[in-house]
Amino acid sequence: MCGIVGYIGKRDAAPLLLEGLQRLEYRGYDSAGIAIHSSGTGKNAGLKTAKAKGRVRELESRLPKRFAGGTGIAHTRWATHGAPSDENAHPHLDAEGTVAVVHNGIVDNAAELRAKLTADGVTFVSETDTEVISHLVGRAQGATLEEKVREAVAVIEGTYGIAVLHADFPDRIVVARNGSPVLLGIGEHEMLVASDVAALVSHTRQVVTLDDGEMATLKADDYRTYTTEGSRTSATPETVEWAAESYDMGGHDTFMHKEIAEQADAVDRVLRGRIDDRFATVRLGGLNMDAREARAVRRVKILGCGSAYHAGLIGAQLIEELARIPADAEPASEFRYRNAVVDPDTLYIAVSQSGETYDTLAAVQELKRKGARVLGVVNVVGSAIARETDGGVYVHAGPEVCVVSTKCFTNTAVAFALLALHLGRIRDLSVADGKRVIEGLRKLPAQIAEIVANEDRIAALAADYAQAKSMMFVGRVRGYPVALEASLKLKEISYIHAEAYPASELKHGPLALIEPAVPTVAIVPDDDLVDKNRATLEEIKARSGRILAVAHTEQEKADHTVVVPRNEPELDPILMGIPLQLLAYHTALALGRDIDKPRNLAKSVTVE
Ligand code: F6R
Repeated sequence: MCGIVGYIGKRDAAPLLLEGLQRLEYRGYDSAGIAIHSSGTGKNAGLKTAKAKGRVRELESRLPKRFAGGTGIAHTRWATHGAPSDENAHPHLDAEGTVAVVHNGIVDNAAELRAKLTADGVTFVSETDTEVISHLVGRAQGATLEEKVREAVAVIEGTYGIAVLHADFPDRIVVARNGSPVLLGIGEHEMLVASDVAALVSHTRQVVTLDDGEMATLKADDYRTYTTEGSRTSATPETVEWAAESYDMGGHDTFMHKEIAEQADAVDRVLRGRIDDRFATVRLGGLNMDAREARAVRRVKILGCGSAYHAGLIGAQLIEELARIPADAEPASEFRYRNAVVDPDTLYIAVSQSGETYDTLAAVQELKRKGARVLGVVNVVGSAIARETDGGVYVHAGPEVCVVSTKCFTNTAVAFALLALHLGRIRDLSVADGKRVIEGLRKLPAQIAEIVANEDRIAALAADYAQAKSMMFVGRVRGYPVALEASLKLKEISYIHAEAYPASELKHGPLALIEPAVPTVAIVPDDDLVDKNRATLEEIKARSGRILAVAHTEQEKADHTVVVPRNEPELDPILMGIPLQLLAYHTALALGRDIDKPRNLAKSVTVE
């Protein structure tokens, strides 16, 4: 949420920063801006800025002709304080125009600081919380830029990842982190900084991740890291796993399409090297939990937001079914506010694609403070949640660039199947059942490829269902999280209103909504509940409702059925979600939506 990028080196900064912003645009796309140390002389010397409401291409078209310089910072914004506008776009300057700041996060005491600064005669030109940082740095007494930034962050409460330029210190960029990611890209005679590795990998794969409370000074030929109190810290670069091409569309028209299409490979990756066929067991070295500790778990509580929460619901069912441990999932955003009872025998699991979602991170921090054991099921290696948890499972979905989650949702569900198998085999799951589920897992990549190959049929259905006024998604037990996720996906990218209900709940109220313009998508696996699900289809039909079923066989009562391959019943939710990702995708396409960047949303919600 909000992207920052900075460059210092021999190359011209502006084109590089624009390219970085394009790669970060999925983190926010309300407005964008850039500041450089101009290489011009006379009246062209000093800091120069350009800003624009809207997308990065708008900023590009507005960039002044003379905008050369080898040092710069840039930002793409998802509005929190103040509407999207040119004035509210970052970078923000101090009163003299000597300091430029880009910021990701929220200054909680911005109103108080703004009032103090205003009383001291400062005139604000934007409504943002970030502008207080620029004025604080501009008015700081310290002799060096590092001291000035340190003074400023000492009075800020809240979260920040910031990059700062100062007209009097043209040889450096100073950055600081507290709660919002800051990564340094270590190049040859050039350095970069970004809030996301996506903006770095086309220049370098050598990356240093700052910790909370850490700062760094970047110069063209060197960098150093230190705490906000000034003590040096060690920062050895790590090599990023994914090459630059992984962040490209790779011949697809959208990232969402690419990410749906690559799910067979992604699932193959999360399984690779983790299954031991001899004992029908699973190796999850990162859990940091021995068999005795695993046996002592009395309850599992899974926390995540949005699609991660939905994947957690699938995970909870898998853990109950395979490991026979009572398990449930709850939105992390709710859990953190309700002063939950933290039980020492409960294993808590935080789920997150980005590993940066603030609500989930805050829930983890609260649990840790109360002494709980917390594992992470996370995609981004080394992310805040991955680092904050006691251990966990990486889902290895690879970079997910589309704002809405697809391949990471699927891989998270598969990671939970592995975890459930692992816990189950330590407890009471038989070898035979272990082998049965392992065989099912091994079939998934080919079956996912088969579903994706059926895309044209789903596209044709979507053209029809795109006319709907609203849509209902229903499923029972294993099918319910699938319905929730499919409904979320559809509303996020098509803007068609959608509701998800347990099929059993339909007659307790939502049936009142059913009419021809409100079709129902029903998840109907051929499991022990199939007759109950068919009865629901009858009830919908009796109210003139149209039905699209996702099932293992053609459903007589449905207007259309998308048939998915059979697997083990426990794994049905993993496969049944995939045609519905395609349904949401093609519905949005038919309606001409901006699929990768839906309105009002952004990837990685790093604010409350
Ligand atoms: C929906 C979606 C969001 C995220 C949620 C959590 O398509 O992408 O609901 O799942 O914001 O994000 P992570 O998984 O990064 O914690």
